[in-house]
Amino acid sequence: MKILVIGGTGIVGTHVVDTAIQRGHEVSWTYFSSDVENISHAHQLDKTDVGAVNHIIKKIKPNAIIDTAALKADACEVNRARAWSVNVQGTRNVAAAADEIDAHYIYISTDYIFAGDSEEAPYTEEHGVNPVNYYGQTKYAGEVAAMLASTWTVLRTSVVYGLAKPNFMTWVVQQLRESKPVGIVDDQVSTPTYAPDLAEACVKIVESATAGIYHATGPESLSRYEFTLRLADVWGFDMTLIDPISTEELGQYALRPSDGSLDSSRLYELMDSEFTPPDAAFSKMALE
Ligand SMILES: NC(=O)c1ccc[n+]([C@@H]2O[C@H](COP(=O)([O-])OP(=O)(O)OC[C@H]3O[C@@H](n4cnc5c(N)ncnc54)[C@H](OP(=O)(O)O)[C@@H]3O)[C@@H](O)[C@H]2O)c1
Repeated sequence: MKILVIGGTGIVGTHVVDTAIQRGHEVSWTYFSSDVENISHAHQLDKTDVGAVNHIIKKIKPNAIIDTAALKADACEVNRARAWSVNVQGTRNVAAAADEIDAHYIYISTDYIFAGDSEEAPYTEEHGVNPVNYYGQTKYAGEVAAMLASTWTVLRTSVVYGLAKPNFMTWVVQQLRESKPVGIVDDQVSTPTYAPDLAEACVKIVESATAGIYHATGPESLSRYEFTLRLADVWGFDMTLIDPISTEELGQYALRPSDGSLDSSRLYELMDSEFTPPDAAFSKMALE
């Protein structure tokens, strides 16, 4: 199939592009601000530019579009106008263009659309949304925009980790490798997601033309602090370098859910397999 990945330079998009190529698909992808030179099938695109979105999508005529492009939580808080423009209007542009050519539109959403209440978590697809921050609001509005496409799928994920691009896990590895102490929040719980699993789910959703809303995260609920201890244990780092801190001490711009764990059993049943638990994923990555 012909697949277009919007945001092919992010942690999710990079893995989606690789997986789709490995599974024999004809893949094109876009980047926004990355330095990308002379790579065939790569197109510079700002999804807020409706003319450019329509031009690329009509030219490529993909069977499916996997849209991973968004601003992150703290950036959304700092520049709300740009956040709405990219995460909502930009998503509307891509979903509407997908609709015009009858392409399947796959939108990556987040656990941050939920309040993150430990009494309610883990959240299923049936739970009502209640975003704690502006990013969550824009991502939920993006979900609604995705429904402009005649065939759409929303995959909600959480704390994506892997080796392909910088992310929370690669930062921790770098610090611990250099024997630098790290303070990691122990009051933000989630279901961390191994990027190659999410990428495989995206491509299988395309292949099976599966529509609807699915939670798409790892199977274990744990705090970032526990996640870091487990990583250090598997990779043989000095665990005394890791200290628990509170979200208040960290002082992030955007509020975070205290427990945004998602229940992904609906997707696991569809795929007939679960995503990789963190310990097994750390062991796999140690061999790369
Ligand atoms: N990472 C996580 O832990 C996590 C958790 C929950 C949900 N998600 C969702 O998963 C998706 C992928 O996240 P990610 O972490 O892979 O993101 P990322 O690493 O920040 O990558 C974002 C991608 O979007 C592109 N982009 C940025 N602004 C754009 C614009 N105006 N027009 C078109 N493309 C633009 C970037 O291109 P350049 O790099 O070339 O600028 C990059 O390819 C997002 O929708 C995010 O909300 C991620």
